[in-house]
Amino acid sequence: MTVQDNKKKRAANAALRYIEDGMVVGLGTGTTVLYLLQAIAASKINILGVTTSKKTTVICQQLGIKVTDIDDVDHIDVTIDGADEVDTYMNGIKGGGAALLMEKIVAKNSNKNIWIVDDSKVHDTLGTFPLPVEVIPYGSGRLLRKFEANDFNPVLRVDQNHQPIITDSGHYIIDLHLGDIINPQTLADYLENQVGIVEHGLFVDIVDIIIIGGDSVTLKER
Ligand code: 5RP
Repeated sequence: MTVQDNKKKRAANAALRYIEDGMVVGLGTGTTVLYLLQAIAASKINILGVTTSKKTTVICQQLGIKVTDIDDVDHIDVTIDGADEVDTYMNGIKGGGAALLMEKIVAKNSNKNIWIVDDSKVHDTLGTFPLPVEVIPYGSGRLLRKFEANDFNPVLRVDQNHQPIITDSGHYIIDLHLGDIINPQTLADYLENQVGIVEHGLFVDIVDIIIIGGDSVTLKER
């Protein structure tokens, strides 16, 4: 296991203390969340999971973690997810795993949101990680050109066969290489006003607790 994997695992294990028997838990997507799912399965804590991707659903089924549809629960106690980058104001970029739409829906419907990250993801300002934007395939070429005109340096995300990757909800992902994002809320407002954009990976004022795995574990709380 790499040093970074160890840090991810440390953060994931530390998140277990926020989960209790009988809770409805939103379950994020990604390699850090995989450690969380393994820890939940090993702990025998009995939760009902609401997943944020087909991938996470399959892993839960393999590990024996019960899952249900988001529309079949009346609340979500806590959601635990990874992030691609977090800033000093506890804003974040998500969607590196192309699951940002479901991740945001689950997060916005949760009583509490916790992110688990390794310390390489913490920066003063967001923008080192390209910002994923989930778009409707129809007209996505026009959006690409509009982003180019805005100097957003857009790149359509493709698979190993150079075909656009398709999200769980049937959309494309365009990654914006922006450099420092000085005002995430202004950018979020702009993106939310563009027709054809389904969702973007800026998570502003959403997370309550960030668990950062380094040589030890650090907590940031809102
Ligand atoms: C998926 C995400 C993930 O939370 C993010 O990419 C972090 O993944 P990892 O834990 O593998 O570094 O937003 O859409």
